Amino acid sequence: MTRAVIETTSPDATESLAEALGRACVGGEVVLLVGTLGAGKTCFVRGLARGLGLAERVVKSPTYNVMHGYAGGRIPLDHYDAYFVRDVDEFARTGLFEFLADGHVAVIEWADRFVGAFGPDVLEVRLDVVGESTRRLEFVATGAQSRARLASLGLPTTEVKS
Ligand SMILES: Nc1ncnc2c1ncn2[C@@H]1O[C@H](COP(=O)(O)OP(=O)(O)OP(=O)(O)O)[C@@H](O)[C@H]1O
Ligand SMILES: [Mg+2]
Repeated sequence: MTRAVIETTSPDATESLAEALGRACVGGEVVLLVGTLGAGKTCFVRGLARGLGLAERVVKSPTYNVMHGYAGGRIPLDHYDAYFVRDVDEFARTGLFEFLADGHVAVIEWADRFVGAFGPDVLEVRLDVVGESTRRLEFVATGAQSRARLASLGLPTTEVKS
């Protein structure tokens, strides 16, 4: 696994980082977001959507629908909220894996309980509240594709044993 850590000091900085990730995506990427209430998960999705060329603005988590799809840009984005999801089959039933194969990007908020359910190659982003406007973002890439996307952010990385 490849790991990188960075602190952002504003919501804009978090969005910009996520936007850079979105610009690097080619379709088929899975991004898992882990972090408490207000950690910045949706903020991250907003930037990611912009980087994918999506015009429709992400304003909130899709909580009550499990998934919200954004289209009309360079790459479609499927935005999931796993908070009320009970088992992994619920993701599969939305078509998540077919959409990935079709070149969508999937981003999943509250992914903690389902790490490992989305295949061997995912980019995990753990967000921690450090201060009022400071967030610590830890990226973990678990395969070749996610490692390449992480590399595109230009952050110093370290290799860790899985
Ligand atoms: N460096 C930062 N990065 C991201 N958000 C920040 C930062 N500093 C402050 N914030 C604030 O933290 C909040 C993050 O909210 P956001 O909805 O993105 O969190 P969330 O993790 O999706 O929460 P929830 O689990 O409730 O959906 C926003 O109010 C944002 O303005
Ligand atoms: Mg949210």
